Amino acid sequence: AQQQAVVTIHTDQAEQIIPKEIYGQFAEHLGTCIYGGLWVGEDSSIPNTNGYRNDVLEALKKLKVPVLRWPGGCFADEYHWMDGIGPKENRPKMVNNNWGGTVEDNSFGTHEFLNLCEMLGCEPYISGNVGSGSVEEMAKWVEYMTSEQGSPMAKLRKENGREKPWKVKYFGVGNESWGCGGSMLPEYYSDLYRRYSTYCRNYNGNVLFKIASGASDYDYNWTEVLMKNIGHRMDGISLHYYTVLGWSGSKGSATKFTEDDYYWTMGKCREIEDVMKRHIAIMDKYDPKKQIALMVDEWGTWWDEEPGTVPGHLYQQNTMRDAFVASLTLDIFHKYTDRVKMTNIAQIANVLQSMILTKDDKMVLTPTYHVFEMYNVHQDATFLPADLQCTYKNVRDKRNIPLISSTASRDKEGRIHVSISNVSLDEAAEVTVNLEGVNGKQVSGRILTADKIDDYNTFDNPDKVAPQPFKDVKIEKGSLLVKMPAKSIVVLEIN
Ligand code: AHR
Repeated sequence: AQQQAVVTIHTDQAEQIIPKEIYGQFAEHLGTCIYGGLWVGEDSSIPNTNGYRNDVLEALKKLKVPVLRWPGGCFADEYHWMDGIGPKENRPKMVNNNWGGTVEDNSFGTHEFLNLCEMLGCEPYISGNVGSGSVEEMAKWVEYMTSEQGSPMAKLRKENGREKPWKVKYFGVGNESWGCGGSMLPEYYSDLYRRYSTYCRNYNGNVLFKIASGASDYDYNWTEVLMKNIGHRMDGISLHYYTVLGWSGSKGSATKFTEDDYYWTMGKCREIEDVMKRHIAIMDKYDPKKQIALMVDEWGTWWDEEPGTVPGHLYQQNTMRDAFVASLTLDIFHKYTDRVKMTNIAQIANVLQSMILTKDDKMVLTPTYHVFEMYNVHQDATFLPADLQCTYKNVRDKRNIPLISSTASRDKEGRIHVSISNVSLDEAAEVTVNLEGVNGKQVSGRILTADKIDDYNTFDNPDKVAPQPFKDVKIEKGSLLVKMPAKSIVVLEIN
């Protein structure tokens, strides 16, 4: 069976830039995200540069990571940054209470994180500790990282081997303050935000972009109270939205699922659009000029941990189903960049919907990595609005989903990129793409697909799901005819 779809791209209505930060990542001290995933230490037998894994560094450079959030998550509100500076042998250990009670040796701290960001050429996004840290501690952290000279914290930084301050723009004042970050009520958190953020200073031309700890999912009251009580004291407010079955009981297997589960997942991930719209409508009431950004700084799939892995480490496999969650969600983010300025998928390695999985000296790139890599052509490009006509399907939980999803942009060199996902499990799609006002001459593309929707990459078979050249596209008089197999994602480039 074959479905028909029409995508009409309005190249004359281009207005918004898709900030590269929409493609942001998140690295928490959780399981083997940092230790084993990004960092193995200088003395490791795993090939590394100053302690960072070479294979992972290289893969992340190809991904063009624009911004990296750290050190949490829930971990951030128990983290005391001073434990993670100075000679490694003197750094105190702590118990990572949120994530399996693992002992944290603090060998990866502020220097290790900010130096990694410099190596990757990405912006750091620091999450400060409001839940169990003091105002003084947070203020001194900002001073340590960003003040030029003369201050006590700049002196300490120099003693620890770093002469120049780092550039730190994004600073989160707490994380999930309604839950693991302090179980607060929104009114109380608003006051704490005002207090803590007052002492996060701008040193020597470094201007902080301060982000308040926002709502999860459907908690619209949290956004309402913060917008009312904090207002323009914040530059951004966060939102967390996971594609998850629920917060109690089994979340379902990452790799063993039915067709019905698959379509449910597509519906649940797409629901982020309605959720964002409702948070945005509240923000519009208090901030009609859209000066405060919405930062979706945690999103992605959350399945049961892989059997046999350490409980609390949130290690999960990643199939072609996860790839669709990535492409569909990115397609949605592109439409709201007048308000949404950053998003951070959870997480970069070995945790939840990760880009990369590692085991000892082995590394595999997940289907989600491949979507992020194929889609990175949209970073900082101009969004091109489009209309879509396609078939819809009723799925579990009374959701009705389009079987095609698409997004388009024009980059600085004038090239147009069109991404299309065909989420149908059994129907190929013939998609006509009308490029209004553009007479493209050449088209090339890549496709990500799999024999089975639950296919995934393993350490023994790392390229089972990987992008391939795509040829089933014709260009004629400004329109494209694209023939996509079932369950496939293509990214096309038109010159
Ligand atoms: O990403 C895993 C956890 O999910 C984060 O630590 C927390 O902020 C959220 O609940």
